[in-house]
Amino acid sequence: MKLAMIGAGYVGLTTGACLADLGHRVVIFDIAKDRVARLRRAELPIFEPGLDGLIGRMLAAGRLAFTDCIHEAVQEADAAFIAVGTPSRPDGGIDLSQVDAAARLVAPALKPGALVVIKSTVVVGTADRVRKIVSEQRGRFDVFVASNPEFLREGSAISDFMKPDRIVLGFDHQAAGQILDEIYAPLIGAVPVCRTTTADAELTKHTANAFLAMKIGFANNVADLCEAVGGDVNAVMEAVGLDSRIGRAFLSAGPGFGGSCFPKDTRAFVHTGRSKSAPQHLIETVVTANAERSARLAQRIISQAGLTSGDTVAILGVAFKANTDDVRESPSLEIARRLLEAGMQLQVHDPKAAANALHVLGQGVAWPADPMDAMAGAHAAVLATEWDVYRQLDLRLAAGAMKGRHFFDFRNLLDANRVNDAGLIYHSIGRTTSRPEFAAICQAAE
Ligand code: NAD
Ligand code: UGA
Repeated sequence: MKLAMIGAGYVGLTTGACLADLGHRVVIFDIAKDRVARLRRAELPIFEPGLDGLIGRMLAAGRLAFTDCIHEAVQEADAAFIAVGTPSRPDGGIDLSQVDAAARLVAPALKPGALVVIKSTVVVGTADRVRKIVSEQRGRFDVFVASNPEFLREGSAISDFMKPDRIVLGFDHQAAGQILDEIYAPLIGAVPVCRTTTADAELTKHTANAFLAMKIGFANNVADLCEAVGGDVNAVMEAVGLDSRIGRAFLSAGPGFGGSCFPKDTRAFVHTGRSKSAPQHLIETVVTANAERSARLAQRIISQAGLTSGDTVAILGVAFKANTDDVRESPSLEIARRLLEAGMQLQVHDPKAAANALHVLGQGVAWPADPMDAMAGAHAAVLATEWDVYRQLDLRLAAGAMKGRHFFDFRNLLDANRVNDAGLIYHSIGRTTSRPEFAAICQAAE
């Protein structure tokens, strides 16, 4: 089939390339001309493992193209996917202006009988809104609108798309469902397919993200309790997660959930609930607790390490999680911002996301290319993103180069004994892991 993808971001690029890999001919359009120009030179504007190779193969096979001309993308398309941003509004609701603009752009160029597929994460009712925009622009009802929410995660986006837990197809006319079935034919049979209305598809996406965020929020609350009573959140969650009704996934305690999705989608869920007089109390609590977590952790660093204004803190990792360069709503950056406010100097490292974080943290922050250089001279170090490269740190060397001894592992990534044995005082999340008396002996022996 011939498909158009509107938006060349994390979702548009990945799903566009994957749909081409499924055998379709895909043209990806983006309003940002410089982005399209870079993509035509085979320069990826984002880091996503495996995506450059996949896009290269699809370009070479002639099944993928990039354009900044909407007609070129849409005029022959059987379906046009909308995968533009849906950021938060200040009131927590979703800003649908990019979706509206994309609908207005594609409407006049579509051939009769074509399908507009909303891939972006949107509030319930958006398919109706897009249907209205498209039919008003065309002056007639001769194209269909469907909802096909995306569940991929950054960092594992390609395999998440190709081997999803389920595909959700939301449509209100059989003809739309048939086009969706044809698009996903290579996957249908291999994975569960939920065929439902556009409204239920939209609700499914927000509900899934809200539930996953709630699991993480709960794990973080339990971690706080474990810290207070001398428990180990990992041990507790391993045992709890073995209950098949609960499951272990998304119960890893950490610095709070970040990224471009869970924070904004939980706020949107709360906003929809309130505006429809169906308040989502559980998620409201999750949103509040998550927003407060960075401030609490920044304060914890300052008090446990005994830091004073002018001290230096090493931050290892600014991406909102490992294997992405995305720093949107990254808890690490929020902690860093609060440390800067408290007068700390920062030495920050990230293997992929440094360029995206430079403008967020601004002046006065050092960005060494090597994590060991970030730790050199620091009064405390904070591992905030679970990059594999941080597992290999030479901690004895780091302990020798640091001015202070406190090492905060907010991802529970490292082995407590290894960090303590290196002469550092190890703090983690929801576990009693520091051996200050041992660290003192090491220090005395040096
Ligand atoms: P993004 O910010 O990476 O990309 C959005 C792209 O859309 C940008 O390149 C922008 O230039 C382009 N754009 C904006 N307005 C446009 C227009 N009118 N016409 C054409 N292009 C336009 O966003 P993303 O992370 O890919 O997310 C896109 C949507 O998918 C959001 O609704 C998000 O919630 C959802 N989603 C994201 C993920 C994820 O992991 N990032 C996963 C599932 C769903
Ligand atoms: C998330 C969902 O997992 C995807 O299914 C969904 O498609 C996507 O949002 C979206 O709607 O855009 P993503 O934001 O890429 O994907 O990343 P996740 O792996 O879900 O992690 C989100 C945040 O939760 C990160 O900050 C991560 O560190 C944190 N997290 C995750 C934890 O703190 N603990 C966990 O156990 C899992």
